[in-house]
Amino acid sequence: MAKHVACLRGWHPALARAEIAALLPSSTITRIDARRLVLVESDESPAEIEDAIECSSGCQAVLFDAILWPISDGIEGFLDAVGAYLTASPRHGSAAVRAWRHEGKVDGVRPSQLAGSIGGLLSASNYVIDLEHPDHRLGLVVDASSMTLACGWMIGTGDDSDGISARRATDRPFFKPVSLDPRLARLAVNLASGPRCNGATLDLMTGTGGFAIEAALSGRSVFAIDLDPVMIAGAQQNLDWASAQNPCTLLQGDATNLASLLPSSATVAGFVLDPPYGRNSQGSLEPEHLIEAVLESSRQVAQAHAAFVLIVPIQSHADQLDEAIQDEATIELLHGNWHTLSNAFAATGWRIQGRWVEHVHASLSRLIVHAVIAPQD
Ligand SMILES: C[S@@+](CC[C@H](N)C(=O)[O-])C[C@H]1O[C@@H](n2cnc3c(N)ncnc32)[C@H](O)[C@@H]1O
Repeated sequence: MAKHVACLRGWHPALARAEIAALLPSSTITRIDARRLVLVESDESPAEIEDAIECSSGCQAVLFDAILWPISDGIEGFLDAVGAYLTASPRHGSAAVRAWRHEGKVDGVRPSQLAGSIGGLLSASNYVIDLEHPDHRLGLVVDASSMTLACGWMIGTGDDSDGISARRATDRPFFKPVSLDPRLARLAVNLASGPRCNGATLDLMTGTGGFAIEAALSGRSVFAIDLDPVMIAGAQQNLDWASAQNPCTLLQGDATNLASLLPSSATVAGFVLDPPYGRNSQGSLEPEHLIEAVLESSRQVAQAHAAFVLIVPIQSHADQLDEAIQDEATIELLHGNWHTLSNAFAATGWRIQGRWVEHVHASLSRLIVHAVIAPQD
C-alpha cells in the first residue's frame, strides 16, 4: 500500500481530515505530529486521488509516496533522500518544485532556498525545468508545527485558498443572511457524499442553494428541496449565476416526505441539512422534531453507504480546529438539546461518526454532525 501525505488547508484541519477520509474511503488516514499533514495509506489509483483533491475544500495537495523528514536529521540527509526518491519514482516530462510552509517559519530553513536545491537535483536527473507549465510538480512543505519536511510528486495546487473568494455567497444574485459559507458547504457535501462516483447529493432544505451550488460545481448530481417557492426561485437564480456544468434538480416540497418527492431513480449518496433556526417555516414542528422527521425520511430513501451531515447553530464554543469534539463533551444547542438530537439520529437508523465545531462570532458557533447508516442487527 502506498504511503502518501495529504497537505491540509489551515481553515479547519480536523474537518479537512474527515473530508479527505470521506473522499478516499479505501485509504487509512492517520494523524501525525504535524497539524496540517496526514498520512494517507492508499490503494486508490492516482486518478481516484486526483478526483478527490479536485473537489475537496480542505486539502491543498497530496504528495505521492512522500518523504517525511525530521528537520533535526539535517538538510543534507533530506536532499540525499530526495535524490534517491527521484531515482526510485521517475516521471516523464518537464518538472518544477512548488514549496510552501505550514504554521510559520523555521529558523534557518527557507522553502525557496530548499526549492532551489531540489531544482538542482531535478536538473541533475535530466528533467527539463518549466516553472510556468510543468508536466509534474514536486511538492515541498516546511512544517513548523512538527519541524518536519514533506516532499513528493504532487496532485493539487498547494494553495491555501481554494478559490472561495471568487464565489462568495454575498456576490450571488439571491443572498440571505442564512446563506452558508461556500467553504463549509463544499466540505459538508464531500463529507456526506464521498467520492463523486458514489451518487447524488441531496440538499434537503436548500434556501439560497448553499450546498446545491457547491455540489453542482464539484461535478456531482444534485437534488435540492425547499418548502418555500421564493427560495426555490432564488436558488435557481444562484445556480444559473454559478453556471455549474452539472444540472441541479430543484424540487419544491417537504423534506419530511422524500419518498413521494424524489424521482424513484434517484440514488442519493449524501444528505446535507442546514435546517431553519427556531421554528420552521411551517411553524408546525419544533427544531429537533423537524430534524428527526427529516432523518427518518432520508433513511427511507438512502442507499447502503449513504451519509448525513447536519449543521446546527450552538452557543459560542471555544475554537476546536484540530480535533473532533469528544463523544462525552457537552454541546449547548441554540435550539433544543443535544441529548434529544442524538437520540433522533439513533432512533431513525443513523450512527453519529463525528462532531466538529466551527466558531462564527462571539455568541454563535456551529456544530457539524456526520452520521452514517447504522449497521442492522
Ligand atoms: C437555514 S435555511 C437554509 C439555508 C441554506 N443552507 C443556504 O445556504 O441558503 C432553511 C430552509 O429550510 C426551508 N424549510 C423549512 N422547513 C422545510 C421543510 N419541511 N422541507 C423543506 N424545506 C424546509 C426554509 O424554507 C429555508 O429556506
